[in-house]
Amino acid sequence: MYKSLLSALALSSSVLASPLLKRASTSSYVNQTTCDSLEYTYDSMVAWGFLAGNAVDNYGDTIGFGSSITLERPSVKVTTLADGSKNYSATVYNLPDRGWNTMGTTNFEPRIYKFEISFVPEPSGSFHPNLKWNLLDTLILTDPYGNPLTGFDCDTTLTFPDMPDIPAATFEHNGWYDFGGQDESVRVCFDAETLNVINGSIENGFWITDEYGPYLYRFNSRGMMVEAIRPPEAIVPYRNGTQSFSADSPREGSDIDGDDITPADPDSGRDNNHGFEGASISPDGKYLFALLQAATVQDGGTKKYQSSYSRLVKYDISTPGASEFVGEYIVKLPTYHNPDKSDKKNPETAAQSELYALSESQFFVLARDSGRGHGQSESESLYRHIDVFDISNATDIHSVDEYNVVGGAVAPDGVLVDDITTATLCPFLDVNVNSQLNKFGGGLHNGGDQEWELLNEKWEGMVLIPADGASGADNKYYAIITSDDDFMTQHGYVNFGKHTYRDDAGYNLDNQALVFEITLPSSLKPFGEFPAGS
Ligand SMILES: *[C@@H]1O[C@H](CO)[C@@H](O)[C@H](O)[C@H]1NC(C)=O
Ligand SMILES: *[C@@H]1O[C@H](CO)[C@@H](O)[C@H](O)[C@H]1NC(C)=O
Ligand SMILES: *[C@@H]1O[C@H](CO)[C@@H](O)[C@H](O)[C@H]1NC(C)=O
Ligand SMILES: *[C@@H]1O[C@H](CO)[C@@H](O)[C@H](O)[C@H]1NC(C)=O
Ligand SMILES: *[C@@H]1O[C@H](CO)[C@@H](O)[C@H](O)[C@H]1NC(C)=O
Repeated sequence: MYKSLLSALALSSSVLASPLLKRASTSSYVNQTTCDSLEYTYDSMVAWGFLAGNAVDNYGDTIGFGSSITLERPSVKVTTLADGSKNYSATVYNLPDRGWNTMGTTNFEPRIYKFEISFVPEPSGSFHPNLKWNLLDTLILTDPYGNPLTGFDCDTTLTFPDMPDIPAATFEHNGWYDFGGQDESVRVCFDAETLNVINGSIENGFWITDEYGPYLYRFNSRGMMVEAIRPPEAIVPYRNGTQSFSADSPREGSDIDGDDITPADPDSGRDNNHGFEGASISPDGKYLFALLQAATVQDGGTKKYQSSYSRLVKYDISTPGASEFVGEYIVKLPTYHNPDKSDKKNPETAAQSELYALSESQFFVLARDSGRGHGQSESESLYRHIDVFDISNATDIHSVDEYNVVGGAVAPDGVLVDDITTATLCPFLDVNVNSQLNKFGGGLHNGGDQEWELLNEKWEGMVLIPADGASGADNKYYAIITSDDDFMTQHGYVNFGKHTYRDDAGYNLDNQALVFEITLPSSLKPFGEFPAGS
Protein backbone atom coordinates (compact mmCIF):
# COMPACT_ATOMS: atom_id res chain seq x y z
CA MET A 1 0.00 0.00 0.00
CA TYR A 2 2.60 2.46 1.21
CA LYS A 3 4.89 1.50 -1.64
CA SER A 4 2.28 2.11 -4.35
CA LEU A 5 1.38 5.46 -2.79
CA LEU A 6 5.04 6.41 -3.01
CA SER A 7 5.33 5.44 -6.65
CA ALA A 8 2.15 7.38 -7.39
CA LEU A 9 3.73 10.41 -5.73
CA ALA A 10 6.96 9.90 -7.65
CA LEU A 11 4.94 9.67 -10.85
CA SER A 12 3.04 12.87 -10.18
CA SER A 13 6.24 14.73 -9.38
CA SER A 14 7.82 13.60 -12.65
CA VAL A 15 4.67 14.72 -14.50
CA LEU A 16 4.96 18.09 -12.77
CA ALA A 17 8.55 18.37 -13.86
CA SER A 18 7.50 19.15 -17.43
CA PRO A 19 9.99 21.20 -19.47
CA LEU A 20 7.66 24.22 -19.24
CA LEU A 21 7.50 24.22 -15.45
CA LYS A 22 11.21 23.54 -15.21
CA ARG A 23 11.94 26.65 -17.20
CA ALA A 24 9.52 28.65 -15.06
CA SER A 25 11.16 27.52 -11.85
CA THR A 26 14.69 28.35 -12.99
CA SER A 27 13.72 31.90 -13.99
CA SER A 28 13.10 32.83 -10.35
CA TYR A 29 15.51 32.46 -7.46
CA VAL A 30 15.53 31.71 -3.76
CA ASN A 31 17.84 34.49 -2.66
CA GLN A 32 20.45 36.92 -3.84
CA THR A 33 23.32 38.76 -2.20
CA THR A 34 25.71 41.48 -3.28
CA CYS A 35 29.24 41.44 -1.94
CA ASP A 36 31.51 44.33 -2.92
CA SER A 37 29.09 45.05 -5.80
CA LEU A 38 29.32 41.45 -7.05
CA GLU A 39 26.02 39.61 -7.24
CA TYR A 40 25.53 36.00 -6.11
CA THR A 41 22.27 34.11 -6.71
CA TYR A 42 20.88 31.01 -5.03
CA ASP A 43 18.74 29.76 -7.93
CA SER A 44 17.34 26.54 -6.54
CA MET A 45 18.08 23.34 -4.71
CA VAL A 46 18.31 20.75 -7.50
CA ALA A 47 19.42 17.38 -6.11
CA TRP A 48 19.93 15.25 -3.04
CA GLY A 49 21.47 11.90 -2.33
CA PHE A 50 23.16 9.87 0.32
CA LEU A 51 25.40 6.94 0.99
CA ALA A 52 23.94 4.66 3.68
CA GLY A 53 25.47 5.18 7.12
CA ASN A 54 26.49 1.52 7.32
CA ALA A 55 28.21 1.43 3.90
CA VAL A 56 31.80 0.13 4.05
CA ASP A 57 34.92 1.08 2.09
CA ASN A 58 37.37 -1.16 0.18
CA TYR A 59 38.93 -2.21 3.51
CA GLY A 60 35.65 -3.24 5.15
CA ASP A 61 35.44 -0.16 7.40
CA THR A 62 32.39 2.08 7.83
CA ILE A 63 32.45 5.15 5.60
CA GLY A 64 32.05 8.71 6.86
CA PHE A 65 32.46 10.67 3.63
CA GLY A 66 31.69 14.26 4.46
CA SER A 67 34.63 16.09 6.02
CA SER A 68 35.71 17.38 2.64
CA ILE A 69 35.23 16.78 -1.08
CA THR A 70 37.37 17.70 -4.08
CA LEU A 71 36.77 17.41 -7.81
CA GLU A 72 38.87 15.60 -10.41
CA ARG A 73 38.22 18.26 -13.02
CA PRO A 74 39.05 16.36 -16.25
CA SER A 75 36.46 13.71 -15.27
CA VAL A 76 33.38 15.99 -15.52
CA LYS A 77 30.95 14.81 -18.22
CA VAL A 78 27.61 16.31 -19.20
CA THR A 79 25.22 14.31 -21.36
CA THR A 80 21.74 15.20 -22.56
CA LEU A 81 19.05 12.63 -21.78
CA ALA A 82 16.07 11.73 -23.98
CA ASP A 83 13.76 14.21 -22.15
CA GLY A 84 16.23 17.06 -22.64
CA SER A 85 17.53 17.11 -19.07
CA LYS A 86 21.25 17.05 -18.36
CA ASN A 87 23.11 14.27 -16.63
CA TYR A 88 26.32 15.27 -14.83
CA SER A 89 28.94 12.78 -13.80
CA ALA A 90 32.36 13.22 -12.24
CA THR A 91 35.04 11.61 -10.13
CA VAL A 92 35.39 13.16 -6.68
CA TYR A 93 37.58 12.36 -3.69
CA ASN A 94 36.06 12.53 -0.22
CA LEU A 95 37.78 12.78 3.13
CA PRO A 96 36.62 11.08 6.32
CA ASP A 97 37.20 12.75 9.68
CA ARG A 98 39.45 10.95 12.23
CA GLY A 99 37.20 7.85 12.15
CA TRP A 100 34.38 6.84 14.45
CA ASN A 101 35.06 9.02 17.50
CA THR A 102 31.81 9.75 19.34
CA MET A 103 32.91 7.29 22.06
CA GLY A 104 36.58 8.32 21.98
CA THR A 105 39.37 8.47 19.40
CA THR A 106 40.59 5.24 17.76
CA ASN A 107 43.45 3.90 15.69
CA PHE A 108 41.51 4.61 12.47
CA GLU A 109 43.99 4.79 9.58
CA PRO A 110 43.28 8.07 7.73
CA ARG A 111 42.37 7.62 4.08
CA ILE A 112 40.51 9.13 1.16
CA TYR A 113 37.64 7.69 -0.88
CA LYS A 114 37.27 7.86 -4.64
CA PHE A 115 33.67 8.08 -5.87
CA GLU A 116 31.91 8.43 -9.17
CA ILE A 117 28.95 10.73 -8.66
CA SER A 118 26.15 11.52 -11.08
CA PHE A 119 23.13 13.78 -10.84
CA VAL A 120 20.31 15.08 -13.01
CA PRO A 121 19.34 18.55 -11.68
CA GLU A 122 15.60 18.74 -10.86
CA PRO A 123 14.66 22.26 -9.71
CA SER A 124 11.07 21.13 -9.14
CA GLY A 125 12.18 18.37 -6.79
CA SER A 126 12.74 14.64 -6.86
CA PHE A 127 11.28 11.95 -4.68
CA HIS A 128 14.10 9.51 -5.33
CA PRO A 129 17.71 10.49 -4.68
CA ASN A 130 18.93 12.18 -7.89
CA LEU A 131 22.55 12.40 -6.78
CA LYS A 132 24.19 8.96 -6.84
CA TRP A 133 27.37 7.86 -5.10
CA ASN A 134 29.38 4.94 -6.42
CA LEU A 135 32.52 4.02 -4.44
CA LEU A 136 35.45 3.28 -6.76
CA ASP A 137 38.43 3.03 -4.43
CA THR A 138 39.92 3.76 -1.00
CA LEU A 139 43.45 5.10 -0.57
CA ILE A 140 45.16 4.74 2.83
CA LEU A 141 47.45 7.70 3.60
CA THR A 142 51.00 7.21 4.84
CA ASP A 143 53.81 9.19 6.41
CA PRO A 144 57.04 9.89 4.44
CA TYR A 145 58.37 6.44 5.41
CA GLY A 146 55.25 4.61 4.26
CA ASN A 147 53.70 3.99 7.68
CA PRO A 148 49.97 4.60 8.16
CA LEU A 149 48.72 7.55 10.23
CA THR A 150 46.36 7.32 13.21
CA GLY A 151 43.15 8.98 14.43
CA PHE A 152 44.34 8.81 18.06
CA ASP A 153 44.82 12.09 19.91
CA CYS A 154 48.46 13.26 19.96
CA ASP A 155 50.91 12.83 22.83
CA THR A 156 54.33 13.22 21.18
CA THR A 157 56.05 14.23 17.93
CA LEU A 158 57.98 12.48 15.14
CA THR A 159 60.79 13.86 12.99
CA PHE A 160 61.21 13.39 9.25
CA PRO A 161 63.85 14.90 6.96
CA ASP A 162 63.08 18.49 5.87
CA MET A 163 59.92 18.71 7.94
CA PRO A 164 58.97 20.52 11.15
CA ASP A 165 58.17 18.38 14.26
CA ILE A 166 55.15 16.31 13.26
CA PRO A 167 52.43 15.66 15.89
CA ALA A 168 52.21 11.95 16.73
CA ALA A 169 50.50 9.43 19.01
CA THR A 170 51.87 6.46 20.95
CA PHE A 171 49.91 3.25 21.34
CA GLU A 172 50.40 -0.35 22.39
CA HIS A 173 49.99 -3.46 20.26
CA ASN A 174 47.85 -2.73 17.23
CA GLY A 175 45.85 0.01 18.93
CA TRP A 176 42.63 -2.02 18.83
CA TYR A 177 41.40 -4.74 21.10
CA ASP A 178 43.58 -7.67 20.24
CA PHE A 179 46.95 -7.95 21.88
CA GLY A 180 50.20 -9.32 20.66
CA GLY A 181 52.40 -8.34 17.76
CA GLN A 182 54.57 -5.25 18.03
CA ASP A 183 54.53 -3.62 21.45
CA GLU A 184 54.60 0.11 20.95
CA SER A 185 54.03 2.22 17.87
CA VAL A 186 54.36 5.95 17.31
CA ARG A 187 52.35 7.19 14.34
CA VAL A 188 51.51 10.60 12.92
CA CYS A 189 48.23 11.67 14.58
CA PHE A 190 45.83 13.03 12.04
CA ASP A 191 42.43 14.71 12.32
CA ALA A 192 41.84 15.46 8.65
CA GLU A 193 39.40 18.20 7.68
CA THR A 194 40.07 19.46 4.15
CA LEU A 195 41.10 17.86 0.88
CA ASN A 196 42.15 19.69 -2.29
CA VAL A 197 43.65 18.05 -5.36
CA ILE A 198 46.41 20.20 -6.88
CA ASN A 199 45.62 21.99 -10.15
CA GLY A 200 42.39 20.07 -10.62
CA SER A 201 43.76 16.54 -10.70
CA ILE A 202 44.97 13.91 -8.25
CA GLU A 203 47.88 13.24 -10.62
CA ASN A 204 49.53 16.35 -9.13
CA GLY A 205 48.96 15.17 -5.56
CA PHE A 206 46.77 16.82 -2.94
CA TRP A 207 46.77 18.95 0.19
CA ILE A 208 45.06 17.97 3.43
CA THR A 209 44.79 20.26 6.44
CA ASP A 210 44.22 18.83 9.89
CA GLU A 211 43.19 20.08 13.26
CA TYR A 212 45.64 18.50 15.66
CA GLY A 213 48.66 20.47 14.38
CA PRO A 214 46.87 22.28 12.90
CA TYR A 215 49.20 21.61 9.95
CA LEU A 216 48.96 21.68 6.16
CA TYR A 217 50.20 18.49 4.51
CA ARG A 218 50.94 17.70 0.88
CA PHE A 219 50.61 14.09 -0.33
CA ASN A 220 51.69 12.60 -3.64
CA SER A 221 49.14 10.89 -5.87
CA ARG A 222 49.80 7.57 -4.12
CA GLY A 223 48.86 9.03 -0.73
CA MET A 224 52.36 9.46 0.76
CA MET A 225 53.06 12.59 2.80
CA VAL A 226 55.77 14.65 1.08
CA GLU A 227 55.53 18.14 2.60
CA ALA A 228 54.33 19.60 5.91
CA ILE A 229 53.71 23.21 6.87
CA ARG A 230 53.66 24.36 10.47
CA PRO A 231 51.55 27.52 10.80
CA PRO A 232 52.65 30.62 12.75
CA GLU A 233 53.37 29.93 16.43
CA ALA A 234 50.24 31.93 17.44
CA ILE A 235 48.19 29.10 15.87
CA VAL A 236 50.21 26.09 17.15
CA PRO A 237 48.73 24.87 20.47
CA TYR A 238 50.84 25.53 23.58
CA ARG A 239 50.28 24.46 27.20
CA ASN A 240 52.54 25.77 29.98
CA GLY A 241 54.72 27.43 27.38
CA THR A 242 55.46 24.20 25.48
CA GLN A 243 53.96 22.95 22.21
CA SER A 244 51.24 20.46 23.05
CA PHE A 245 49.24 18.91 20.21
CA SER A 246 46.68 17.06 22.31
CA ALA A 247 43.09 18.01 21.47
CA ASP A 248 41.93 16.63 24.82
CA SER A 249 40.15 13.84 22.95
CA PRO A 250 40.47 10.71 25.13
CA ARG A 251 40.67 7.30 23.50
CA GLU A 252 37.81 4.89 23.12
CA GLY A 253 37.50 2.69 26.17
CA SER A 254 38.78 5.42 28.52
CA ASP A 255 36.62 7.94 30.37
CA ILE A 256 35.70 10.21 27.47
CA ASP A 257 34.05 12.74 29.74
CA GLY A 258 37.32 13.01 31.64
CA ASP A 259 40.36 14.95 30.50
CA ASP A 260 43.22 13.62 28.44
CA ILE A 261 45.59 16.36 29.50
CA THR A 262 46.01 19.24 31.97
CA PRO A 263 45.13 21.97 31.30
CA ALA A 264 42.33 20.72 29.02
CA ASP A 265 42.51 23.80 26.76
CA PRO A 266 45.76 25.13 25.34
CA ASP A 267 46.88 28.52 26.74
CA SER A 268 47.63 29.70 23.22
CA GLY A 269 46.94 28.54 19.67
CA ARG A 270 44.09 26.66 18.07
CA ASP A 271 41.32 25.61 20.40
CA ASN A 272 40.75 21.85 20.78
CA ASN A 273 39.10 20.48 17.63
CA HIS A 274 39.09 23.94 16.04
CA GLY A 275 41.92 23.59 13.55
CA PHE A 276 42.07 24.15 9.79
CA GLU A 277 38.48 23.09 9.02
CA GLY A 278 38.52 24.98 5.74
CA ALA A 279 41.16 25.16 3.01
CA SER A 280 41.16 25.86 -0.71
CA ILE A 281 43.60 26.41 -3.56
CA SER A 282 43.28 29.65 -5.55
CA PRO A 283 41.84 29.25 -9.07
CA ASP A 284 45.32 29.71 -10.61
CA GLY A 285 46.82 26.96 -8.45
CA LYS A 286 49.40 29.26 -6.82
CA TYR A 287 48.07 29.76 -3.29
CA LEU A 288 46.70 27.55 -0.58
CA PHE A 289 44.38 29.31 1.88
CA ALA A 290 43.44 27.70 5.22
CA LEU A 291 40.92 29.00 7.74
CA LEU A 292 40.60 28.06 11.41
CA GLN A 293 37.19 26.71 12.43
CA ALA A 294 36.94 29.60 14.94
CA ALA A 295 39.23 31.95 16.91
CA THR A 296 42.44 30.83 18.61
CA VAL A 297 42.36 30.43 22.40
CA GLN A 298 44.03 33.84 22.95
CA ASP A 299 41.43 35.43 20.63
CA GLY A 300 38.45 34.16 22.65
CA GLY A 301 38.32 30.69 21.07
CA THR A 302 37.11 28.72 24.10
CA LYS A 303 33.81 30.63 24.36
CA LYS A 304 31.18 30.42 21.63
CA TYR A 305 30.13 34.04 22.16
CA GLN A 306 33.71 35.33 21.81
CA SER A 307 35.18 33.10 19.12
CA SER A 308 34.19 34.78 15.85
CA TYR A 309 37.57 36.35 14.90
CA SER A 310 39.14 33.49 12.95
CA ARG A 311 42.47 33.48 11.08
CA LEU A 312 42.94 32.82 7.37
CA VAL A 313 46.51 31.94 6.33
CA LYS A 314 47.84 32.11 2.78
CA TYR A 315 50.78 30.06 1.42
CA ASP A 316 52.42 30.29 -1.98
CA ILE A 317 52.51 26.61 -3.01
CA SER A 318 53.65 27.12 -6.60
CA THR A 319 57.05 25.52 -5.97
CA PRO A 320 56.38 22.08 -4.50
CA GLY A 321 58.55 21.55 -1.42
CA ALA A 322 59.27 25.25 -0.95
CA SER A 323 55.93 26.67 0.19
CA GLU A 324 56.04 30.18 1.60
CA PHE A 325 53.86 31.99 4.15
CA VAL A 326 52.66 35.08 2.28
CA GLY A 327 49.47 36.33 3.95
CA GLU A 328 47.25 36.24 7.03
CA TYR A 329 43.86 37.89 7.49
CA ILE A 330 41.15 38.04 10.12
CA VAL A 331 37.74 36.78 9.08
CA LYS A 332 34.86 37.62 11.41
CA LEU A 333 32.67 34.52 11.19
CA PRO A 334 28.88 34.88 11.11
CA THR A 335 26.97 34.79 14.38
CA TYR A 336 23.41 33.82 15.32
CA HIS A 337 21.15 34.23 18.32
CA ASN A 338 20.80 31.11 20.47
CA PRO A 339 17.49 31.39 22.36
CA ASP A 340 18.71 28.84 24.94
CA LYS A 341 21.48 31.18 26.09
CA SER A 342 21.36 34.42 28.07
CA ASP A 343 21.91 37.75 26.31
CA LYS A 344 25.38 37.91 27.86
CA LYS A 345 26.31 34.68 26.07
CA ASN A 346 24.92 35.76 22.72
CA PRO A 347 25.35 35.95 19.82
CA GLU A 348 27.15 32.66 19.22
CA THR A 349 29.72 32.07 16.50
CA ALA A 350 28.71 29.92 13.55
CA ALA A 351 32.00 27.99 13.36
CA GLN A 352 33.09 27.23 9.81
CA SER A 353 33.76 23.86 8.21
CA GLU A 354 34.79 24.48 4.62
CA LEU A 355 36.32 27.11 2.40
CA TYR A 356 36.16 27.48 -1.39
CA ALA A 357 38.32 30.05 -3.19
CA LEU A 358 36.38 31.76 -6.00
CA SER A 359 39.29 34.13 -6.68
CA GLU A 360 42.31 35.32 -4.70
CA SER A 361 40.03 37.62 -2.69
CA GLN A 362 36.49 36.17 -2.63
CA PHE A 363 35.61 32.91 -0.90
CA PHE A 364 32.66 30.74 0.00
CA VAL A 365 32.61 29.60 3.60
CA LEU A 366 30.36 26.87 5.03
CA ALA A 367 29.41 28.03 8.53
CA ARG A 368 26.96 26.55 11.01
CA ASP A 369 25.76 26.08 14.55
CA SER A 370 26.34 22.78 16.39
CA GLY A 371 24.36 20.26 18.41
CA ARG A 372 21.37 20.64 16.10
CA GLY A 373 20.22 18.08 13.54
CA HIS A 374 19.74 14.33 13.11
CA GLY A 375 21.08 12.46 16.11
CA GLN A 376 21.35 15.59 18.29
CA SER A 377 19.24 16.73 21.25
CA GLU A 378 17.75 19.56 19.16
CA SER A 379 16.58 18.92 15.59
CA GLU A 380 16.33 22.48 14.31
CA SER A 381 19.50 24.17 13.10
CA LEU A 382 19.54 27.96 13.50
CA TYR A 383 22.39 28.71 11.12
CA ARG A 384 23.73 26.61 8.27
CA HIS A 385 24.94 28.77 5.39
CA ILE A 386 27.23 29.07 2.45
CA ASP A 387 28.37 32.68 2.97
CA VAL A 388 30.74 34.89 0.98
CA PHE A 389 33.72 36.83 2.30
CA ASP A 390 36.16 39.16 0.61
CA ILE A 391 39.70 39.94 1.81
CA SER A 392 40.59 42.72 -0.63
CA ASN A 393 40.43 45.39 2.10
CA ALA A 394 41.44 43.17 5.02
CA THR A 395 44.69 43.89 6.91
CA ASP A 396 47.51 41.46 6.09
CA ILE A 397 49.10 40.63 9.46
CA HIS A 398 51.43 37.84 8.34
CA SER A 399 54.58 39.87 9.00
CA VAL A 400 53.41 41.52 12.23
CA ASP A 401 55.37 39.60 14.89
CA GLU A 402 53.21 40.52 17.88
CA TYR A 403 50.22 38.75 16.33
CA ASN A 404 52.13 35.64 15.27
CA VAL A 405 54.15 34.70 18.36
CA VAL A 406 52.91 32.33 21.08
CA GLY A 407 50.06 34.14 22.87
CA GLY A 408 49.93 36.83 20.16
CA ALA A 409 46.29 37.99 20.20
CA VAL A 410 44.33 39.98 17.65
CA ALA A 411 41.07 39.81 19.63
CA PRO A 412 41.62 39.26 23.38
CA ASP A 413 38.31 38.00 24.91
CA GLY A 414 36.78 38.31 21.46
CA VAL A 415 37.32 42.07 21.10
CA LEU A 416 39.27 43.01 17.96
CA VAL A 417 42.29 45.33 18.35
CA ASP A 418 41.94 48.77 16.69
CA ASP A 419 44.40 48.57 13.80
CA ILE A 420 42.99 45.52 12.01
CA THR A 421 40.34 45.54 9.29
CA THR A 422 38.59 42.19 8.92
CA ALA A 423 37.37 40.57 5.70
CA THR A 424 33.96 41.73 4.46
CA LEU A 425 31.34 39.05 5.15
CA CYS A 426 28.14 38.70 3.12
CA PRO A 427 25.39 36.22 4.08
CA PHE A 428 24.40 34.12 1.06
CA LEU A 429 22.81 30.67 0.81
CA ASP A 430 20.71 29.37 3.69
CA VAL A 431 20.82 25.56 3.52
CA ASN A 432 17.87 25.36 5.95
CA VAL A 433 15.17 26.86 3.69
CA ASN A 434 12.50 24.18 4.19
CA SER A 435 10.52 25.07 1.05
CA GLN A 436 13.58 23.98 -0.96
CA LEU A 437 14.41 20.92 1.16
CA ASN A 438 10.78 19.72 1.16
CA LYS A 439 10.84 19.26 -2.63
CA PHE A 440 13.13 16.26 -2.18
CA GLY A 441 12.81 12.75 -0.80
CA GLY A 442 9.18 13.22 0.12
CA GLY A 443 10.18 15.92 2.56
CA LEU A 444 13.78 16.54 3.60
CA HIS A 445 13.66 18.98 6.47
CA ASN A 446 15.45 21.09 9.03
CA GLY A 447 13.82 20.77 12.48
CA GLY A 448 10.96 18.40 13.31
CA ASP A 449 11.05 14.66 13.76
CA GLN A 450 14.27 12.74 14.32
CA GLU A 451 14.27 10.53 11.23
CA TRP A 452 16.35 9.91 8.15
CA GLU A 453 14.96 12.89 6.18
CA LEU A 454 16.09 15.31 8.90
CA LEU A 455 19.34 17.04 7.92
CA ASN A 456 22.45 15.94 9.79
CA GLU A 457 24.13 18.36 12.19
CA LYS A 458 27.51 18.72 10.47
CA TRP A 459 28.00 20.01 6.91
CA GLU A 460 31.69 20.09 6.10
CA GLY A 461 32.38 19.45 2.42
CA MET A 462 31.74 21.74 -0.53
CA VAL A 463 32.66 21.58 -4.19
CA LEU A 464 31.51 23.39 -7.34
CA ILE A 465 30.80 21.85 -10.75
CA PRO A 466 30.35 24.29 -13.64
CA ALA A 467 26.94 23.84 -15.32
CA ASP A 468 28.57 23.93 -18.76
CA GLY A 469 30.87 21.11 -17.65
CA ALA A 470 33.91 23.17 -18.63
CA SER A 471 34.98 26.70 -17.65
CA GLY A 472 31.71 28.10 -16.30
CA ALA A 473 31.12 30.42 -19.26
CA ASP A 474 27.44 31.00 -18.31
CA ASN A 475 28.35 31.65 -14.62
CA LYS A 476 26.06 28.82 -13.46
CA TYR A 477 27.44 26.23 -11.07
CA TYR A 478 26.24 23.34 -8.97
CA ALA A 479 27.42 23.56 -5.38
CA ILE A 480 27.52 20.14 -3.72
CA ILE A 481 27.73 20.01 0.06
CA THR A 482 28.36 16.88 2.11
CA SER A 483 27.64 16.07 5.72
CA ASP A 484 29.95 14.41 8.18
CA ASP A 485 27.78 11.78 9.91
CA ASP A 486 30.42 11.07 12.60
CA PHE A 487 30.23 7.37 11.56
CA MET A 488 27.09 7.15 13.74
CA THR A 489 25.56 3.77 13.01
CA GLN A 490 24.34 0.67 14.79
CA HIS A 491 26.06 -1.53 12.20
CA GLY A 492 29.60 -0.16 12.17
CA TYR A 493 32.93 -1.76 11.28
CA VAL A 494 36.43 -0.70 12.35
CA ASN A 495 39.99 -2.08 12.16
CA PHE A 496 39.71 -3.28 8.57
CA GLY A 497 36.34 -4.86 9.14
CA LYS A 498 37.61 -7.01 12.03
CA HIS A 499 35.45 -5.42 14.74
CA THR A 500 31.85 -4.25 14.84
CA TYR A 501 30.51 -1.29 16.78
CA ARG A 502 27.19 0.28 17.71
CA ASP A 503 27.20 3.98 18.39
CA ASP A 504 25.98 4.67 21.94
CA ALA A 505 23.61 7.44 20.83
CA GLY A 506 21.44 4.76 19.22
CA TYR A 507 21.12 6.55 15.88
CA ASN A 508 21.74 5.52 12.30
CA LEU A 509 22.89 8.54 10.30
CA ASP A 510 23.45 8.52 6.55
CA ASN A 511 26.15 10.33 4.61
CA GLN A 512 23.86 13.06 3.24
CA ALA A 513 24.64 15.38 0.32
CA LEU A 514 22.71 18.29 -1.24
CA VAL A 515 23.13 20.12 -4.55
CA PHE A 516 22.26 23.78 -5.17
CA GLU A 517 22.24 25.65 -8.45
CA ILE A 518 23.90 29.04 -8.03
CA THR A 519 24.95 31.92 -10.28
CA LEU A 520 28.30 33.58 -9.64
CA PRO A 521 29.27 37.12 -10.64
CA SER A 522 30.67 37.01 -14.19
CA SER A 523 34.01 38.47 -13.05
CA LEU A 524 34.74 35.31 -11.05
CA LYS A 525 36.10 32.35 -12.97
CA PRO A 526 37.05 29.63 -10.49
CA PHE A 527 37.48 27.20 -13.43
CA GLY A 528 39.28 29.71 -15.65
CA GLU A 529 42.77 28.27 -15.41
CA PHE A 530 42.05 24.57 -14.85
CA PRO A 531 38.70 23.95 -16.56
CA ALA A 532 36.54 20.92 -15.94
CA GLY A 533 35.74 18.41 -18.68
CA SER A 534 38.16 16.58 -20.93
C1 LIG B 1 37.08 48.11 -0.24
O1 LIG B 1 37.22 49.51 -0.08
C2 LIG B 1 36.75 50.26 -1.20
C3 LIG B 1 37.10 51.72 -0.95
O2 LIG B 1 36.62 52.11 0.31
C4 LIG B 1 35.25 50.02 -1.35
O3 LIG B 1 34.78 50.73 -2.49
C5 LIG B 1 35.00 48.53 -1.55
O4 LIG B 1 33.60 48.27 -1.59
C6 LIG B 1 35.61 47.74 -0.40
N1 LIG B 1 35.51 46.31 -0.67
C7 LIG B 1 35.12 45.44 0.24
C8 LIG B 1 35.08 44.01 -0.18
O5 LIG B 1 34.84 45.73 1.38
C1 LIG C 1 24.40 9.62 -15.79
O1 LIG C 1 25.73 9.24 -16.19
C2 LIG C 1 26.34 8.30 -15.34
C3 LIG C 1 27.78 8.12 -15.82
O2 LIG C 1 27.83 7.76 -17.13
C4 LIG C 1 25.55 7.00 -15.36
O3 LIG C 1 26.13 6.06 -14.49
C5 LIG C 1 24.12 7.29 -14.91
O4 LIG C 1 23.33 6.13 -14.99
C6 LIG C 1 23.51 8.38 -15.77
N1 LIG C 1 22.21 8.75 -15.22
C7 LIG C 1 21.09 8.76 -15.94
C8 LIG C 1 19.85 9.18 -15.22
O5 LIG C 1 21.07 8.45 -17.12
C1 LIG D 1 51.14 22.26 33.16
O1 LIG D 1 51.46 22.62 34.47
C2 LIG D 1 50.59 22.05 35.46
C3 LIG D 1 50.99 22.65 36.82
O2 LIG D 1 52.37 22.52 37.03
C4 LIG D 1 50.78 20.53 35.44
O3 LIG D 1 49.90 19.93 36.38
C5 LIG D 1 50.44 20.03 34.05
O4 LIG D 1 50.66 18.64 33.96
C6 LIG D 1 51.26 20.75 32.99
N1 LIG D 1 50.78 20.33 31.69
C7 LIG D 1 51.55 20.17 30.62
C8 LIG D 1 50.91 19.71 29.35
O5 LIG D 1 52.75 20.39 30.63
C1 LIG E 1 49.96 24.23 -10.38
O1 LIG E 1 49.80 25.28 -11.32
C2 LIG E 1 50.50 26.46 -10.96
C3 LIG E 1 50.11 27.55 -11.96
O2 LIG E 1 50.27 27.08 -13.27
C4 LIG E 1 51.99 26.17 -10.94
O3 LIG E 1 52.69 27.33 -10.52
C5 LIG E 1 52.28 25.05 -9.95
O4 LIG E 1 53.63 24.71 -9.97
C6 LIG E 1 51.44 23.82 -10.28
N1 LIG E 1 51.63 22.84 -9.22
C7 LIG E 1 51.87 21.55 -9.46
C8 LIG E 1 52.19 20.70 -8.27
O5 LIG E 1 51.82 21.07 -10.57
C1 LIG F 1 17.72 35.96 2.03
O1 LIG F 1 18.87 36.65 2.51
C2 LIG F 1 18.59 37.60 3.53
C3 LIG F 1 19.89 38.32 3.81
O2 LIG F 1 20.87 37.40 4.20
C4 LIG F 1 18.02 36.90 4.75
O3 LIG F 1 17.69 37.83 5.74
C5 LIG F 1 16.78 36.11 4.34
O4 LIG F 1 16.33 35.36 5.44
C6 LIG F 1 17.12 35.17 3.19
N1 LIG F 1 15.94 34.47 2.76
C7 LIG F 1 15.97 33.17 2.43
C8 LIG F 1 14.68 32.57 1.98
O5 LIG F 1 16.99 32.51 2.47
